[in-house]
Amino acid sequence: MVNELADKLMEADGMVIGSPVFYGSPNGTLLALLDRLFFSMEGRSKHMKVGASVVSCRRGGNTSAFDVLNKYFLSAGMPLAPSTYWNMVHGFTPEDVMKDREGMQTMRNLARNMSFMIKSFADAKDKYGYPEVETAAFTCFHDGK
Ligand SMILES: Cc1cc2nc3c(=O)[nH]c(=O)nc-3n(C[C@H](O)[C@H](O)[C@H](O)COP(=O)(O)O)c2cc1C
Repeated sequence: MVNELADKLMEADGMVIGSPVFYGSPNGTLLALLDRLFFSMEGRSKHMKVGASVVSCRRGGNTSAFDVLNKYFLSAGMPLAPSTYWNMVHGFTPEDVMKDREGMQTMRNLARNMSFMIKSFADAKDKYGYPEVETAAFTCFHDGK
């Protein structure tokens, strides 16, 4: 499963991670998968693939769950697509969520922005090349040990 996902991510221009909120966090099974996926792919560049997280809760905990998911992208060189609010909807059922007008609008704006970023990055790669990435340093303190 993780290996299949890793290959798919290598082929993709971007990645959307979605999760319900359980006790203020993303789904635990999803987190186990993401830990394994991103750790196992540390030697494979995901640089400039666009990332977006979306979360759904009944009432509270969306922001903390959103924060957790965004961190996978930010340490993998994957820029986050923006929207007009943080990417979250509220509701206990899909029908509730469809009535969350601001949440639904946030998702539509996110989709358009993500699409634009992916196309723009493809053009920019041809025009400027992607920025250099330094990766050799690993938790080095002031005494150099
Ligand atoms: C174990 C569990 C924990 C939940 N914790 C929260 C929570 O912290 N905040 C919240 O607003 N909703 C919470 N909910 C409600 C879910 O976020 C919401 O119903 C979700 O959309 C359900 O998705 P699912 O049907 O895929 O599990 C919880 C639901 C479950 C089952």
